[in-house]
Amino acid sequence: MKTKNVLIGITGGIAAYKTCYLVRYFKKAGHNVKIVITQNGLEFITETTLRTLSGEPVYSNTFGSSNEWSTEHVSITDWADIFIVAPATANIIGKMANGIADDALSTALIAYNKMLIICPAMNDKMYNNPAVQRNMRTLKKQGVIFIEPDTGDLACGYKAKGRMSEPENIFRESLYYLNNTGKLKGKKILVTAGRTTELIDPVRYISNFSSGKTGFRIAEEASHRSAETVLVTGTTGETCNSHIKRIDIVSAEDMYKAVVREFKTADCVIMSAAVADYAPEKSDSKIKKSVKNLDLKLNKTKDILKEIGKLKRKGQILVGFALETDNGLRNARKKMKEKNLDMIILNETNSSNPAFGAESNRITIITSNKTEALPVMDKKDIAGKILDKIGEMFKLQSK
Ligand code: CTP
Repeated sequence: MKTKNVLIGITGGIAAYKTCYLVRYFKKAGHNVKIVITQNGLEFITETTLRTLSGEPVYSNTFGSSNEWSTEHVSITDWADIFIVAPATANIIGKMANGIADDALSTALIAYNKMLIICPAMNDKMYNNPAVQRNMRTLKKQGVIFIEPDTGDLACGYKAKGRMSEPENIFRESLYYLNNTGKLKGKKILVTAGRTTELIDPVRYISNFSSGKTGFRIAEEASHRSAETVLVTGTTGETCNSHIKRIDIVSAEDMYKAVVREFKTADCVIMSAAVADYAPEKSDSKIKKSVKNLDLKLNKTKDILKEIGKLKRKGQILVGFALETDNGLRNARKKMKEKNLDMIILNETNSSNPAFGAESNRITIITSNKTEALPVMDKKDIAGKILDKIGEMFKLQSK
């Protein structure tokens, strides 16, 4: 991953406190962050907070002492790869659409001509005001990207559209624009992620600890490479960018149906989901504790990968995962053969390499002619490695 320079503009809205999280996401992902804030923004959060989070001086006054030199509005915008205004008030949107530059932020914005993302946050009546809507249309025509506000509780007490999009969403959406390479353009990649949940009765279930992180990072990486990306996911706290078609499912049977439907037009399927191998026969009413010992009858679920392995057409690439505690390589190669796969990712779990929830993992990539053990890596870098291999396979096919 290349380190990027991210410039964040903050204006005077209560959502300004959430922008602290946005700064953290970018910093945690290894990017550089600088901040420009309006005087009204400083009514909501302090320069000290922002300086501490970003590790950089905060730019708030065109003529202030924090300026390293008098043309900082130009040098800071030259430095930036992306400029994100979050939260953006009706006022800053109006200034931008009309070319007004009367403070540090609006002056920096007028001096900037690269990728610009605006995250509006305001009361719904302000948001729907014809002048605000007209200003947003003007900016969109100029190529400015808008991340629409969410509908929910507003600081003014109403429940309506106007809440700034959540920081993690702004982060993931921005990464999409920042990292776009186009390497897998024209390919449809279907990814599964997370755990399936099998109901015992209306209030109980059987599931596993899969967090969905690996699958989400793979889908994200595929979308950054411009693949048409479909993500079929079980219950998870993970989020993804809006360019990914996300299909939420509950059970193994739901996942099977969604995968079979999307598989027909897919060029590649990556099954990273932890699918339940057995599901109970669901009781329609809550099971009462009337007996001393309760026996649950579990029926085998469909092996999704094996089923689509039988349907695989020439040119389609199938990738599976093998979660193993013993005899990893042998078991993974056996699964690869039995399920008619082109690649299998061995995930050997033990006390030093937990199977679920961690940000990093140690995997081995196995293809028909190569076995490559990778060191412990961040899950987004693992996603990159897997998609590099898939990219190579597509290239070989087209020769
Ligand atoms: N898989 C699947 N459908 C299932 C079970 C697993 O598609 N009902 C997929 C997983 O998503 C993974 C691969 O098959 O890509 C291997 O899953 P794993 O749990 O490692 O092995 P199983 O095939 O379930 O076999 P076992 O549990 O006996 O190791």
